[in-house]
Parts: sequence; structure tokens; C-alpha cells
Amino acid sequence: MRFTHESIEKKPLLLIVLVLLVVSIGGLVEILPLFFQKSTTEPVAGLTAYSPLRLTGRDIYVREGCYNCHSQMIRPFRAETERYGHYSVAGEFVYDRPFQWGSKRTGPDLARVGGRYSDDWHRAHLNNPRDLVPESNMPGYPWLATTALDPQAIVPKLQALKRLGDPYTDAEIQAAPAQLQGKTEQDALVAYLQGMGVQIKARR
Ligand code: HEC
Repeated sequence: MRFTHESIEKKPLLLIVLVLLVVSIGGLVEILPLFFQKSTTEPVAGLTAYSPLRLTGRDIYVREGCYNCHSQMIRPFRAETERYGHYSVAGEFVYDRPFQWGSKRTGPDLARVGGRYSDDWHRAHLNNPRDLVPESNMPGYPWLATTALDPQAIVPKLQALKRLGDPYTDAEIQAAPAQLQGKTEQDALVAYLQGMGVQIKARR
């Protein structure tokens, strides 16, 4: 049998096998190096694993579905960098499990919202966005301000992240619940927001 293009096209099974082979080589060449490149696996300068309070805030962000309206990835386009600041880089997300990049933007991207507003601004905004931005269609989350955190809940979370390779020490994990004592869900969420993207300057 001559091994021509036509002979391959006439044998669907062989065609499928060969297509899969070609596609997987293409995929491996693109994907594999990312696991070993410094720029994609090492945290950017100044990035530390989430503090207990910020980690708790992040879980509240996920629980409340903030990602349904907010992305956390600034694309490398002029229109984006002019508005939000430096585009997002992989090293900013090494402690995000799972990351919150997203592409749905009913509201603005939040990747560099840290430090843009005061804590009080965030509290008022989370209680009722329309007090600050009259035309906002973001829902209010007033109950976060009155819901206390469960300090012990942080321990298994940190242990799980440690197992996955995040650099928490046993002493840090033991001391974590004390840092959540007396804090509300709103405290945690605001701490999370205020630390977002601050390792790289928001605007040039
Ligand atoms: C239904 C869509 C929607 C949801 C859900 C939503 N937001 Fe928003 N958000 C918006 C819109 C629209 C704006 C812009 C108007 C404003 O500032 O209120 C905004 C603005 C913001 C801002 C100010 C950003 C800036 O750069 O000015 C922050 C911070 C924020 N949202 C946080 C959150 C958090 C935290 C949650 C989850 C608890 C959340 N949002 C849920 C729609 C949403």
C-alpha cells in the first residue's frame, strides 16, 4: 500500500490516530515548557501565600459568586492597561487555587483593585453599592458585616494548601485561628480585596 494523503483520508481510524498524535505533540510543545519556566511558576517579587484573613476573604468571594461579574485578569492591551494598570502576569497567581481570572465583566476587572479605595469605601460599597455609585447594578452584601468568622475553619484549609506545596509552617497554621478571632466576613473580604495585585504598581 502506498502511504499517500488519500489513503490516510480513506481510513477514518488511522486518520483519527494520526490527528491525535499531531495535535498532542503540538499541545505538549506549547504546554509543557510552562511547567518549568521561571516566569510562570515563581511568585512575582513580594508575593506571599495568602494570610489567614485574606484566604478566608477569598473563599467568601468565591462563595458569593463575585466572579460572575468580575474578572481578575488584565489583558495586555492598551485599553486595559490604561484603565487598570499593568497587565496581569502568571507569577501573580501561583497561590490562587483555583484562580479567578474569568472573562465575565458586568463590573470592572479587580486584579489591581488593592489600595485603590479605602477600607471604609469597600465596607460602604459592599453594604450597598448605590450609596457610592448611584447607577451601580452590583447587589449589596450587608450580611457580611454582621456575620462572624469561624476561626477554626481555617486550619484544615491551610493544611490542605500546605500539602499542595504552599509555604505555610505548622506554627503559622496553629496561630491562624487567633488572627480570625472577632473578625467578620466583611473584614476578611475587604482584606482580600485590598491585597489584590499590589505587587505590581496599579498605574504607571
Ligand atoms: C451583578 C454583578 C455584580 C456582582 C455579582 C458583583 N459585582 Fe462588584 N461591581 C459590579 C458593577 C457593575 C460595578 C461597578 C459599579 C460600582 O462600583 O458599584 C462593581 C464594582 C465593584 C468594585 C469597585 C471596582 C472599581 O475598580 O471601582 C468592587 C471592589 C467590587 N465590585 C467587588 C465585588 C465583590 C467583592 C463582589 C462579591 C461579594 C461583587 N463585587 C459582586 C457588579 C457586580
